[in-house]
Amino acid sequence: MKDVIILGIESSCDETAASVVKNGREMLSNVISSQIDIHTLYGGVVPEIASRKHVERISQVVEEALKDASVSREDIDAVAVTNGPGLIGPLLTGVSFAKAYAYGGNRPLIGINHIEGHVCANYIENPELKPPFMCLIVSGGHTHLVRVTDYGEYTLLGRTMDDAAGEAFDKIARVIGLGYPGGPKIDKAANEGDPEAISFPRGHAKGEYDFSFSGLKSAVLNYLNSCEMKGEKISVPDVAASFQKAVVDVLVGNAEKALREYGDKNFAIAGGVASNSAFRREMEKACNEMGVGFFRPSPVLCTDNGAMIASAGYYRFLKGEFSDLSLNGVADLQLCGDQ
Ligand SMILES: Nc1ncnc2c1ncn2[C@@H]1O[C@H](COP(=O)(O)OP(=O)(O)OP(=O)(O)O)[C@@H](O)[C@H]1O
Ligand SMILES: [Mg+2]
Repeated sequence: MKDVIILGIESSCDETAASVVKNGREMLSNVISSQIDIHTLYGGVVPEIASRKHVERISQVVEEALKDASVSREDIDAVAVTNGPGLIGPLLTGVSFAKAYAYGGNRPLIGINHIEGHVCANYIENPELKPPFMCLIVSGGHTHLVRVTDYGEYTLLGRTMDDAAGEAFDKIARVIGLGYPGGPKIDKAANEGDPEAISFPRGHAKGEYDFSFSGLKSAVLNYLNSCEMKGEKISVPDVAASFQKAVVDVLVGNAEKALREYGDKNFAIAGGVASNSAFRREMEKACNEMGVGFFRPSPVLCTDNGAMIASAGYYRFLKGEFSDLSLNGVADLQLCGDQ
């Protein structure tokens, strides 16, 4: 079969990203223009600023992705773009650009769910990973435990009832003075701390495989307030390590339970929090103990990137699932119909 070259475009939050991927798995380029410095000034992503920065950067980022891949516009077989979920202004920038690019080049357009993209990041470095498998997506806005029954087919087993795992990392980092973006900073600080120093609750939600992190967040805030009232100095590394352990225990615990129930032979993690060192270590250990294959993307492919969108686009391309020019950005686009 002829090679299929997909251009993937991602702009759902604060990364303007584009990538060229061959046959869904071979990453020819991966350009990511992060806006982190500007949003750090405000302690989080400011949607209007993000939209403007995407508009400024998107043409250059796409051109760079083609150049790095040594392909021309004519070599691209289809343009895949994130059309949700995410911030509406940033999404519309990518979608509008991709529509014009596809139309101008007379190539098919493929709208991709950002969460599906996170799952597909695993295909890029793991040629042996094929559905069916179970996947835990832990990102800034989502915590979803799914079964990938086929390419592009997902069954939701559990999701967070309140905060996403990444959101919890970001909020706790802010209150303990580590700043934004919180996840990597807590990960680093936790290396110097004792995960058993403070006993934080392991949140349980109603549904068997659902998650809840709001109780944990309140417990950390209560702990900090009570230390302040008593005039006790807190150890930032100990709080970071104990909080991180509480999150990881819940993530790994739910995943283990579901793996035992469903008997999947392979397990993958995805999304920004999948680059957390403790989570990667503990999840891999649990999979090894159960004889389940463990897969995870490199850290750069855990957070937002265009390669994961191109990979997802390839499997839609094979099925002939194209979008027309009425494709729109959808802020709360769902991965499975049953959410
Ligand atoms: N090493 C780490 N440990 C824990 N969390 C991390 C780490 N690195 C990144 N994160 C978290 O990952 C999140 C960003 O991931 P990602 O880019 O997938 O999220 P998003 O795109 O904002 O949200 P979504 O994908 O749900 O729309 C942030 O919340 C960040 O704190
Ligand atoms: Mg993301």
